[in-house]
Amino acid sequence: MKALMISKDSLLHAEIAAQGSARMPALQLVASRQGVRDAAERPLADPPDMVIFDAGDVEPGEWEIVERLVRQYPNARFMLLAREAHQDLLIRAMRAGMREVLQLPLVHRAFHEAMDRVEIETGVTRMRDGKVLAFIACKGGSGATFLATNFAYALGALADKKALVIDMHGQFGDATLYVSDQKPAMTLADVCAQINRMDGAFLESCLVHVTPNFGVLAGADDPAKAADMKPEHMDTILRVARQHYDFIVLDVGRQIDALSLRALDGADAIYPVLQLALPDIRDGRRLLDIFRSLGYPAERTRLIVNRYEKGGKLRLADLEHALGADVMHTVPNDYLSATDSVNQGIPVLQLSRGSLVARSLADLVEVVTERRVPESKGLFDRLFGRSEVEICP
Ligand SMILES: Nc1ncnc2c1ncn2[C@@H]1O[C@H](COP(=O)(O)OP(=O)(O)OP(=O)(O)O)[C@@H](O)[C@H]1O
Ligand SMILES: [Mg+2]
Repeated sequence: MKALMISKDSLLHAEIAAQGSARMPALQLVASRQGVRDAAERPLADPPDMVIFDAGDVEPGEWEIVERLVRQYPNARFMLLAREAHQDLLIRAMRAGMREVLQLPLVHRAFHEAMDRVEIETGVTRMRDGKVLAFIACKGGSGATFLATNFAYALGALADKKALVIDMHGQFGDATLYVSDQKPAMTLADVCAQINRMDGAFLESCLVHVTPNFGVLAGADDPAKAADMKPEHMDTILRVARQHYDFIVLDVGRQIDALSLRALDGADAIYPVLQLALPDIRDGRRLLDIFRSLGYPAERTRLIVNRYEKGGKLRLADLEHALGADVMHTVPNDYLSATDSVNQGIPVLQLSRGSLVARSLADLVEVVTERRVPESKGLFDRLFGRSEVEICP
């Protein structure tokens, strides 16, 4: 968005310019004027999307000029900044058609909240109603981080969804490394420590950006800081994240604690990731038992079998029988593509688009974004509880 700034205060100008440029999309101060008279006398050839002006510079007789300015830029949103927002001023501002009045000194959070409203009203961004999808590994090394990060990337790349991964590991979180070579400046623990700054712009500024519509909030790098993360912090983060992203993918790790429980409680879907092996099935069963005892509805839990290879001794039907739950998706074993991607920190879809694992993630995107319904089992399978029929030679 392009804004005209009307103020004599160069510090205020610099402050708004800095806050504006941190936004996504950025708010650019394309011109500045010393007062409303100056603004009216030197109109911009290219009308601004916003006019931000300092009420301290409006002389008592100048409100008519302000009204003229409003008519001059009929499509612009006006933001009034005032040291003392007394009733008279508010009435004049409202009469002139202004809705955003902010108190000085500027409270950054209030500024960004006002900008969020303006952007939604003008259609620059829309208030989203994001879905929270939690990936949780049934056993260490099941591939939950690999799938969570690569799936979120695929949501952005294939379905044009705005996606965010939150790495919830209390220690040794590695989600950023799977898809980027950037070093995170902020972690989930830092965000929790500054929770009163939380809004869309702050959250966005804390991410490692992989693409314009996909970023990762890194996991806590210090267990001491991780201990200060509270469940209510998670509530705030997810509430704001839902407003600004289409999908919030949680890499929950393996720990079930107060923080991850709060996140799981509020998740729209939980994807336990496991491999087709007895130890995974044992741990998967324990995890599903916990979810059942917590009263999570069965349809919210959707199993993903990773590194799946047909023809093994264990069949998907055995796993489903043991866990008492259906498998929602299988991801094939694709050692070379997965290892290359992880080693280089490049999403697998970008590195090897035609690989088995990339194609499987694309299928998952189709199902989750409801472009395609999951393949239903055949009548035979449903009757006999077998999800794959093997024909032995
Ligand atoms: N479909 C796949 N085919 C082959 N290898 C895979 C596949 N998915 C993941 N891997 C490999 O498995 C390894 C472990 O994956 P990942 O770190 O995602 O597991 P995790 O469940 O997050 O483990 P942790 O318990 O450490 O958090 C990765 O190095 C990755 O290369
Ligand atoms: Mg992991």
